[in-house]
Amino acid sequence: MDLAKLKQQVISEIQAVHTQDGLESMRIKYLGRKQGLVTKLFEKIPSLSLVEKRKQVPALNQLRSQLEKAFKDRESLLNPQVGAPTEKKLAFFDASLPGSPPQSGHSHPALQIIEEIKEIFHYLGFGWVDGPEVETDLYNFQKLRLYKDHPARDTQQTYYLNEELLLRTHTSNMQVRYLESHKPPVRMLFPGRVFRREAIDATHLPDFLQIEGLLVDTESSLTDLLGVIDFFLKRLFGEKTKTRVYGHHFPYTEPSIEVELLYQGKKWLEIMGAGMVHPEVIRNAGLDAKKYHGWAFGMGPERIAMLRYGIEDIRLFYNSDLEFLKQF
Ligand code: DAH
Repeated sequence: MDLAKLKQQVISEIQAVHTQDGLESMRIKYLGRKQGLVTKLFEKIPSLSLVEKRKQVPALNQLRSQLEKAFKDRESLLNPQVGAPTEKKLAFFDASLPGSPPQSGHSHPALQIIEEIKEIFHYLGFGWVDGPEVETDLYNFQKLRLYKDHPARDTQQTYYLNEELLLRTHTSNMQVRYLESHKPPVRMLFPGRVFRREAIDATHLPDFLQIEGLLVDTESSLTDLLGVIDFFLKRLFGEKTKTRVYGHHFPYTEPSIEVELLYQGKKWLEIMGAGMVHPEVIRNAGLDAKKYHGWAFGMGPERIAMLRYGIEDIRLFYNSDLEFLKQF
């Protein structure tokens, strides 16, 4: 029998049928399990020669599946409900199928950086602690020698809640706060969120993260600080990292430095501020500045993530764009 011709004939018959019942009886006529014309063709196979079998079996299989599809397509056209999940189908649950693993999230890239920084400094004997985001003017500014009307306050546009309370502008608020209640030796990190009244752009947000480091002891030196910074940045960015340091000014450190990192072999970009804790800050915490001294530093985890991954816009971190965040 000419299978191609048969196929053409059945398909044109299918196209001409307009009721579900008509379609079903036609399906029985051709594909019915007992009397179906195509089914009967299969029954003849055992009596064929090997050569014939090789030709006929694949051709018959193909015909059957093409016709099955044609019937199905016509059926869903005549009755659009077919093919849509029925209640019965939905209720069926095969407990033996493997489950789909739940999608697990991960921590935000900036938090991952904080964790890495903690780990590196933990190796050097540092612990860490949170601090208050709502802070007094006293700890955020005055005890750090940023007195009222100090010009350096201008660089840290502040959200005041009232005369005395504000949203901390930096994690340096923790320096005196911590020293007041913990006797040296102190080696601590203070990670947390800080707030500044700034216009949003590619490098500024009104709230972002910082991590502060503080060491106070009977012995400490600028050389130690420089060595620690070099060690730390090499751990964080790789052994080949190039850094440079130059003099700066922060009211709470003397001398003060700023650290720059060679970015993509081309540009020097600021990465952290640091310095020897000013003796007055030590005294403001009720400690003897002749006996105790130390150093401190501060940096921004988002900025570090931007440098590390070559991200040019800080806003990307907080758009809740999963496609972006999943990369880290
Ligand atoms: N508080 C500074 C800032 O927000 C960063 C900083 C600089 C922290 C020098 C320090 C330091 O502890 O010694 O930009």
